[in-house]
Amino acid sequence: MKRLIVVSNRVQPPSEDEPGNQGGLTVALSTVLRESDGIWFGWSGGETESFTGHINFQKSAGVTTATVDLEPQDIHEYYDGFANRTLWPLFHYRVSLAEFERGFVDGYERVNTRFADTLLPLIAKDDLVWVHDYHLIPLGQRLRERGVANRIGFFLHIPWPPMRLMVSLPNHQELVESLFAYDVVGFHTHDWLESFIDYVRAQMDATIGEDNTVTWNGRTLRAVVCPIGIDAQEFADTANGPVAEAMRQRMEESAGGRAMIVGVDRLDYSKGLQERFIGYERLLSQREDLHEKVFLLQIAPPSRESVQTYQEIRASLDSLSGRINGEFSSVEWVPLRYVNKGYPRDVLAGVYRAAKVGLVTPLRDGMNLVAKEFVAAQDPADPGVLVLSNFAGAAAQMGQAVLVNPYSPEEIADALGQALTMPLAERQERWRALMDTVLEQDVMWWLGQFMAALDPDEAPEPALSAA
Ligand code: G6P
Repeated sequence: MKRLIVVSNRVQPPSEDEPGNQGGLTVALSTVLRESDGIWFGWSGGETESFTGHINFQKSAGVTTATVDLEPQDIHEYYDGFANRTLWPLFHYRVSLAEFERGFVDGYERVNTRFADTLLPLIAKDDLVWVHDYHLIPLGQRLRERGVANRIGFFLHIPWPPMRLMVSLPNHQELVESLFAYDVVGFHTHDWLESFIDYVRAQMDATIGEDNTVTWNGRTLRAVVCPIGIDAQEFADTANGPVAEAMRQRMEESAGGRAMIVGVDRLDYSKGLQERFIGYERLLSQREDLHEKVFLLQIAPPSRESVQTYQEIRASLDSLSGRINGEFSSVEWVPLRYVNKGYPRDVLAGVYRAAKVGLVTPLRDGMNLVAKEFVAAQDPADPGVLVLSNFAGAAAQMGQAVLVNPYSPEEIADALGQALTMPLAERQERWRALMDTVLEQDVMWWLGQFMAALDPDEAPEPALSAA
C-alpha cells in the first residue's frame, strides 16, 4: 500500500478520548492514514509572529499530523481573505458578496507557496498526495514547480460555480490553470463537474476526452464525481447508543408532545437560514392549527466570525428570530428555539432522532452531510421526514426527501406542512430508500472511489457513481 499524504487547511485528527465523536471525513481519512503510515498536513489554526516553516508533528489515535502556524497577515489575507471573502461566496453563487482584492490573492499565493516549501521534504518517491478544498487550489502547481512527480489529487468540497460567474474572479484563469498540476480533480456532483468542464472548454479551449479526461497545454487531468458520505452504520449505532438515547428523552420531555422540526448548520449565509426562518414564519401565519403544536429547533454555531458578512447574517438572524417569537409565542410556547452553539455528534444524533422533520435548506451547498446524518439517526419504525434543498449536492442522491426550492417561503411552508402530517407508511418508504443510499454510498465508498482514480495501479477501479 502506498503512503498517503493528505493536505487540508484544517487538520482534524481522530481524538483518542472521544473516538465516537468524530466526523466521517476524519474517520475515513484516518483509516487510510493509519494503514499507510501517512501524514495529515495543514494549518495548526495557530499564529506565529514570523513564519518559520517549523512543523509540529503529533500522533493521535495512530494518525500522524504535521501542522504549521501562520502569520496574522497570512490568516487575514489567505483564510479570512481570498478563501472566505472571495472564493467561498463566489463558489456559492453569491458574487455580490465576494470581495476582490489583490492583497488577498497575494496572501493566498504566499500561503500556498509556504505550504509547498514546508511539505516538500516530507514527500517520498511513491507517496500519493491528496489536497482538499478551495483554500489550496494552487498547491499542486507549487509542488510540481519544486519537482514533485508523484500522483497528486485534488478534491473540492464546495460547489464549482457556473462559468459566467467564475469569470468575475479577476485571476480566474490563473487559478483554473493551476488545477492542471493535479492528476485527478474530484467533485461531489455532476452539476459541479459540468460547470468545470464548461469553463475549461469555453475559456481554455481544453480537449475533453473519454471519462472526463481534460487536456490543456500538454497536461491531462481526470475530473471525477464522487459524492462524499458519512460513516452511516456508525452514526446509526451512535443514535441507538446511551448518550443519544438520553438526549432523545430529554428532547421529548422538553417538547411536551409538540412536533420538533430541527435544523443544524454552521452560521453561514450559504445555509439559507433567513429564508428558512421566513418559510417557517409563513407556515405559522398560514396554519393557526399548528400553533402550540410544533417548534423549530435551529442549532447554528457561529463560524468565521472575523468576516463581516458572517457578522451581518448573525445580526439579521437575531432580529428575525426575535420577530418570529415576539409575534407567535404564548406564555407557554416558544415556536423558534435558536441556539448559537455546537454540540457533540452523539448528542446531535439524539436530537435528530427526536425530531419529526429535518430541515436542510441551503441556498447552495457542495454536499451537506447533516441531511445524511439526519437520515442515519432515525428510528426505522417511526422515522422523521427530511426536507431538503434542491440546491444541496446531497439532493442528487436523496430524491426521496421532500425537495424544496430554498428561496421560496411558500415551498418551505408547504413542505413542512406535508412532512408534519405524512402518513407512517410513506415516511417509512421514503426513509428506507434514503437510508439504503446513505449506507451504500458511505464515506469509505467515497474514499475508495477517489483513491482508485488517484492510484489506478493499486486497485481495479470501481465504476464511478452515476449519482
Ligand atoms: C466547509 C469547507 C471546509 C471547512 C468547513 C468549516 O465544509 O468545505 O473546508 O473546513 O466548511 O469551515 P472553517 O472555515 O471553520 O474551516
